[in-house]
Order: sequence, then C-alpha cells, then structure tokens
Amino acid sequence: MKPAIKAINLTKRYGSLIAVDHVNFEVYYGEVFGFLGPNGAGKTTTIKMLTTITRPTEGTAIVNGYDIVKQPAKVRESIGVVPQEYTADEDLTGWENLMLIAALYGIPKREAKERAAELLDLVELSHAADRKVETYSGGMRRRLEIAMGLINRPAILFLDEPTLGLDAQTRAAIWEYIYKLRNQYGITIFMTTHYLEEADRYAERIAIIDHGKILAIGTPKELKEKVGGDVITIEVNGDVNVARKVIEGIDGVSGVTVVGNTIRFKVRNGNTAAPVILELLNKLSIRATSITIKEPTMDEVFLEYTGRRLRDEESNSEEFMRFRRTISRARR
Ligand SMILES: Nc1ncnc2c1ncn2[C@@H]1O[C@H](COP(=O)(O)OP(=O)(O)OP(=O)(O)O)[C@@H](O)[C@H]1O
Ligand SMILES: [Mg+2]
Repeated sequence: MKPAIKAINLTKRYGSLIAVDHVNFEVYYGEVFGFLGPNGAGKTTTIKMLTTITRPTEGTAIVNGYDIVKQPAKVRESIGVVPQEYTADEDLTGWENLMLIAALYGIPKREAKERAAELLDLVELSHAADRKVETYSGGMRRRLEIAMGLINRPAILFLDEPTLGLDAQTRAAIWEYIYKLRNQYGITIFMTTHYLEEADRYAERIAIIDHGKILAIGTPKELKEKVGGDVITIEVNGDVNVARKVIEGIDGVSGVTVVGNTIRFKVRNGNTAAPVILELLNKLSIRATSITIKEPTMDEVFLEYTGRRLRDEESNSEEFMRFRRTISRARR
C-alpha cells in the first residue's frame, strides 16, 4: 500500500546549519506516528516542509500522493496542521475561530456551520463555543486548535507538540481525542513530541530525530527490543544453580545474575520467553515462586541512540509560559 507520507532525502539548511539532514521515512495511512526528539532536533522544520510552509533545500516528500515541492496546493488540500505556536485568536470565541478558518479555506457558510458544530462536539467544546478563547484553559485551547486543523476534512493531520506544557491529565485527554479522530475518521496522524513517556505510550510508530538525522524508526516495542530486551526476574524453589544453567542455555538470554534464590537476566522478548523457561524448569521439578517481566524504558532507548538522556520534564511549564508571553507580545 502506498504510504501517507514518504520523505525522500528531505533536507533543510539555514546557512551553514543543517536543520534537517537527508531524512528518509514513511508514515502509513491511518497510523499515529510520533516524531520524537529534543529541542532543536529538527521536528518543526520537518513539519514545516511536509506542510509546504517552507521549501526543502534538497530532497522532497510525497504527502497523500502529492509532491510537496511540485504540488504544494494539492498537499495543502490533503492536510490539516496544528502548529507548535498558538494560532487561535484569543479575542474571538471558539465558534468564531472555526468559522474564520473555514472561510480561509473557502468552505461555504452552511457547510462550515455543520462542520464547526460537529468538530466542537468531537473535542467536547460545544459548551464553550460562544466563550472567548482567552477564557479557555490550556487543554481547551489545544482541543480548539485540533478542531481548527480538521475543518477541511484532511486525510493527514500534523500536530507539532500538541501536548507541550500541559499537565499529565490534560495530555492524556488530548491523546484520547487524537485516537478518537483516528478511529472515527481513519485520519493519519503525524505528531511531534519530546515527551519520551508519551511517545512510548501513545504513538504506534516512532522516529527518533536528533541534530536533523533520523536515528531509529519502529514501534515503541521494536525500539525497546533493539536496546536489549526485557529484564526477567525469577525466584525459584529448588536447585538455583540447575535453574541458572537451564536459563543460560536458552537462545537470546544474556546477563544472568543470581542472588539467593532469585535469577535475573535479559531476554529479547520477555512475554514469549517466560512460558518457555517456566516449562523447562517445571520438567526439572524446579518451581518458580514468582516471576516479573520488566520492559526497558524509552529513556534507555533514547540514550542508546543519541548518547544523551532526555528528561520528560525538560521543557517545563516555565518554558511554556515564556513562549506564551512571546506570542501575546507578537499579537499586539
Ligand atoms: N528560520 C530559521 N532560521 C535559522 N535557523 C532555524 C530556523 N528555524 C529553525 N532553525 C534551527 O534549526 C534547528 C532545528 O529547529 P526546529 O525548530 O526544527 O527544532 P525542533 O525539533 O522543532 O525543536 P523544539 O523542540 O525546540 O521545537 C535549530 O537549530 C533551530 O535553531
Ligand atoms: Mg519545534
């Protein structure tokens, strides 16, 4: 099946800086794709090129079957965008913002009203439709912007850090809306984030980008498996040294350590390895009294590929407030 997005050596230079460096990746139709990277990695620049806001210096991308360089108008018809900076007008109501953006797309008024009502309902903002956006909470603003990004019924929705600076509960709620969208409309979702935990939990596939280069692509599970798999801890009732030999003999097992009656080791896929191990031990009349399987975290994955740690709260609410002040200054 043809991909929803295919980046081909996509590159953006700003003077001597390469913000995005010969990037290649595919996003499939209907998937929730996460673009994960630290500040300055090149996430926004990639989104800007994919959404035809800036032209690539080199390379191109196919979005919904159209070339971003040769067919930008067709690309724009296919996509919705929720940018990193706020775009809703604070002095207007949620409803007025939606009608304004519909007018920009040239959507006839009757149709626009229908869509606005449907979208406000989808993001559960109908009750606040006639309130000025300046009275909205951070989460409500984001939901409104998601609705605004959908007014032209796009095949692909791009979201740049949709959960930046929101509290954990609101972030989780935003993700619920994103999945609702995908499930109801079959829309393809491309979103950036620098929250590791979030990418791990909510994205179906992830690309890790750093210094403009893609370092890894896969499902969160695949990425974690590549790092070295799960950690299994088994407590046995029986000869622990025999048990150790059995476990060491299993394909894919590494780093076996024994403390008392507890054996700890790494294995590529804990969920499939555990039953095999239990059965082998059982045959030797060794009983496992407890077993735990722990997946490596995204933090370790990130460290493995970038050589650096990326703390989930690196971009805190302080940064977010600074950012909002910049926006409100710009509006004056
Ligand atoms: N218009 C521009 N002119 C010059 N340099 C730019 C411009 N836009 C971005 N850059 C630089 O390109 C690099 C990538 O920036 P980009 O905004 O794409 O990163 P990002 O991954 O979105 O980061 P963040 O998490 O902070 O949003 C950075 O070094 C940035 O300073
Ligand atoms: Mg950005």
